[in-house]
Amino acid sequence: MATFLVLLGPPGVGKGTQAEVLSHTIKLAHISSGDLFRENFKNHTELGTLAKSYMDRGQLVPDDVTINMIRERLKREDCRAGAILDGFPRTPAQADALCPMLSEFGGEVNIVPYITAAENIIIERLSGRWTCRAQGHIYNIKSNQPKVSGICDVDGSELYQRDDDKAETVKTRIGVYFEQTMPLVDYYRKKGKLVEINGAQDVAQVTKDLLAAINKK
Ligand code: AP5
Ligand code: MG
Repeated sequence: MATFLVLLGPPGVGKGTQAEVLSHTIKLAHISSGDLFRENFKNHTELGTLAKSYMDRGQLVPDDVTINMIRERLKREDCRAGAILDGFPRTPAQADALCPMLSEFGGEVNIVPYITAAENIIIERLSGRWTCRAQGHIYNIKSNQPKVSGICDVDGSELYQRDDDKAETVKTRIGVYFEQTMPLVDYYRKKGKLVEINGAQDVAQVTKDLLAAINKK
């Protein structure tokens, strides 16, 4: 049976960083809704233009287009064994839509690691984040510097700062997270799927805790 993980947690807590490591370790596809929107924008699609107008304001992209995008992504061959969902679902309506979608693919949400860290930590991490233009690899000026400044270690592409990492937009994103995504903590806790992970630790320790939680399930 396919295995599906949902990484839950505020902006900047390390969902993308951990999903990248986990996808190599446990050999599951990494699906990041934010990366898919950014890829669409880079490719000048209609969806990309629409998504960008919400992302730049720190608001969520409407549920219907987001759900359709994820449904299409899950149909790809690399998801047959399952996937790590990073940034989806982000509203109760998206979570309700995910359940029947996964059963179509012979799976269910197996575990929801809920990664947490104090607001000052996530703000600091986002202000120091640099992202790779080609494939979204993630760096940080303090905690994860590239070998050559401004260049991705993995694919040699340019590193850039995301438009939505501006201080004002980060504030809005955190507010939106508390209002619209926090209800999912109780939603998955009631289903017995939630496992809390201390995201304030260094990257390697968070990975260790995630793997321990996944192996226990
Ligand atoms: P998205 O791209 O998903 O952004 P987000 O959820 O705000 O989360 P981030 O990507 O900012 O943070 P992260 O937790 O992945 O942290 P990271 O690993 O990069 O979404 C962007 C936008 O798209 C949304 O605002 C919305 O508009 C739209 N969207 C996306 N999904 C949607 C959905 N489902 N519905 C509707 N709209 C949607 O780490 C951050 C930094 O910290 C990095 O520099 C990293 O190197 C560093 N770091 C990570 N871990 C550690 C650690 N343990 N110690 C020290 N530094 C660390
Ligand atoms: Mg991310």
